[in-house]
Amino acid sequence: MEQPIIQIRNLGKEFKTANGPVRALNDINLDINQGEIFGIIGLSGAGKSTLVRCINYLEVPTEGEVLFEGQSLSAMSGAELRKARRSMGMIFQQFNLLAQRNVIGNVCFPMELAGVPKKEARERAMELLKTVGLEDRAKAYPAQLSGGQKQRVAIARALATNPKVILCDEATSALDPNTTKSILALLKEINKNLGVTVIVITHEMAVIEAICDRVAIIDQSHIAEVGTVSEIFSEPKSQIGRQLILGDAVKHVSFGTSRQIRLIFDGRESSEPVISNLVLACKVPVNIMYASTTDVNGKAMGQMIIQLPEEEADADRVIHYLKTVKIAYEEVTSHEL
Ligand SMILES: Nc1ncnc2c1ncn2[C@@H]1O[C@H](COP(=O)(O)OP(=O)(O)OP(=O)(O)O)[C@@H](O)[C@H]1O
Ligand SMILES: [Mg+2]
Repeated sequence: MEQPIIQIRNLGKEFKTANGPVRALNDINLDINQGEIFGIIGLSGAGKSTLVRCINYLEVPTEGEVLFEGQSLSAMSGAELRKARRSMGMIFQQFNLLAQRNVIGNVCFPMELAGVPKKEARERAMELLKTVGLEDRAKAYPAQLSGGQKQRVAIARALATNPKVILCDEATSALDPNTTKSILALLKEINKNLGVTVIVITHEMAVIEAICDRVAIIDQSHIAEVGTVSEIFSEPKSQIGRQLILGDAVKHVSFGTSRQIRLIFDGRESSEPVISNLVLACKVPVNIMYASTTDVNGKAMGQMIIQLPEEEADADRVIHYLKTVKIAYEEVTSHEL
């Protein structure tokens, strides 16, 4: 059998923090095959972003290793590692475009770093912009583009160094359903036409269902199950798999005397559905105890007190999500209400 393009072996990651060590990944073993679209799904805080960053050693694992085309990234010299990284393009939820450069400048950027002559880089960038359907926006700046267009630029940029793999960390999570569909279709096309292996990290089952061949479910730092999408969808074996696929009906959530959190809104877009996004990302309900927010010129101002689920892992997931999306919060005790 052909060798998998990426082999993840006994991989672990522990972060040292002021409050002691945080274990983000534990004994991860996965093989990703050349040419497939592989999904990694899990709830907020499960370890997805850490895993994707460990795959190209943006984050160096504390245990185990990753093999790219049979070569251990741990054993590579600096130059070899940079070459391997160029073979693994990345796209993110927040696009990460350079605001002061126009579209073609963004796509040329990784080629400049790789020492590609300027003229050649621009020609290749124009070709890539054609691939992603943006050849007429080459001179536009990121601020002039929609979210979907920004992600198309990010995809063109990720393809610039001719990668064999594209790593997507929640690439469609900031997009509306129709734009999500078109970006997923583009990734599928790139996979099919260019033979690029695609690794998709998401918390949405719909994304997995739309484009993945196989999927791994990650839960609390470890892999709960791996299989073809049809296997996992028809018969999830792990509890987390059942929860993600069958929904919250399988899980009884109790609030009891659980922790309460005050959310502070000081200028987010008032149209942003903060609580429903939180519930969707964490797959747990929260209880709204009190809310006093007002819309000031389209910005949400005020506060809201929510009760977290009693189960500690569920509550921690909500907290992690709030940190990730940078919503200010503080813990309250009930007499402060
Ligand atoms: N640089 C860091 N320092 C300390 N802890 C971290 C760091 N990065 C991640 N963690 C912790 O590791 C765990 C996994 O985080 P990670 O960001 O990988 O989750 P995730 O599955 O991507 O979540 P989300 O869906 O919210 O993006 C969390 O407990 C998180 O707080
Ligand atoms: Mg993440």
